[in-house]
Amino acid sequence: MMMQPNVHYAELKDSYLFAGIAKKTQKYLEEHPGQRLYRMGIGDVSQPLCPAVIAALHAAVEEQAAPGSFHGYMPECGAPFLREAIAAHYAERGVDLSPDEVFVSSGASDELGDLQDIFARETAALVIEPAYPAYVDACVIAGREIVHLASGPENGFLPAPPQDARAGMLYLCSPNNPTGAVFSRAQLQEWVDYANDTGAVILFDAAYEAYIEDDLLPHSIFELEGARTCAIEISSLSKTAGFTGTRLGYTVIPKELERKGLNVNSLWVRNRTTKTNGVSYVLQRGGAAVFTPEGQAQIRAQIAVYKQNAKVLTDALRRCEIWYTGGSNAPYIWLKCPDGSDSWGFFERLLREIQVVGTPGEGFGSCGEGFFRFSTFADPQDTAEAARRLIALLGNSTN
Ligand code: MLT
Repeated sequence: MMMQPNVHYAELKDSYLFAGIAKKTQKYLEEHPGQRLYRMGIGDVSQPLCPAVIAALHAAVEEQAAPGSFHGYMPECGAPFLREAIAAHYAERGVDLSPDEVFVSSGASDELGDLQDIFARETAALVIEPAYPAYVDACVIAGREIVHLASGPENGFLPAPPQDARAGMLYLCSPNNPTGAVFSRAQLQEWVDYANDTGAVILFDAAYEAYIEDDLLPHSIFELEGARTCAIEISSLSKTAGFTGTRLGYTVIPKELERKGLNVNSLWVRNRTTKTNGVSYVLQRGGAAVFTPEGQAQIRAQIAVYKQNAKVLTDALRRCEIWYTGGSNAPYIWLKCPDGSDSWGFFERLLREIQVVGTPGEGFGSCGEGFFRFSTFADPQDTAEAARRLIALLGNSTN
């Protein structure tokens, strides 16, 4: 029989947003040999793994070298030592989890796609836009209907739940990628209540929670009343501890989460035991080091570097009188393209005139048109130079 490909791939944009940007910047470099770029586009970290993590990785490699301490297959849902360390980390914030409600993953983006498996194809997904494009692309590939909920400056990029109950799968991201907006407790409670009332399940992307400065803002959806019966939280060490290339994340699925008599935590155990052989022992040891007092102090120092980058960039935007939001409780700055420019036009202008790379807002959904995103994860010297170039280019801009 002729193989039938998944025709939904044809419904995707030509290339994934960040792959498309990488292609455009590569082409620019080929046409302009010797030019140097200041990359504030994809949120890839510039600071190396912290010493506590490196020491734990080395020690784990040594263990793998000796017959008595060698580890083969790891438990598919995560090593007990790491699941316990993550649960203890939540407990410090007043969120009680049992370690078997924590699943160790190879990163939030992998997990956000894989979790599609536990939702029936007929379940529509609600995506608040502008949105991290992987949510939309994963749904398109799965052939799932998408309900696009546009947000904008009028609601601080934090819309309230819709009036209807068309979607049974709700993607929420707070602190938000790309806008940097963060749900208050009251706003997030509205979504939790809505999900419990309608039977929907929230996929709460908490990858940027470590950037929250304001004590009143929730880091985890499980800080909210009723979330244990309607939410899954997906998190990552990528931006918290520099694991973008090392890959390690975690997902929390409470035992109370059930739909149609099926327990979602059990479904995910069944899925993981079938589809993965777990994350490597070495990486999980490195991940566990993040949750030690030493690791926490060291990652805080790294996050402070990115927060200083945010200050440098937002100071520049203020000098240029460019409207922006984000950058304080989140590592992304979301700005209005000056002079009425569209977002890809502004991308080209920054690339060609000052060699600064950002991400066009339109890539996060059509309501992102006219906006632009800077990541604050670049090297501090590059960030300072990008800020200097922005001021030189746009210092007299009228917006
Ligand atoms: C981003 O730039 O939006 C993120 O780095 C993408 C990711 O985490 O996969």
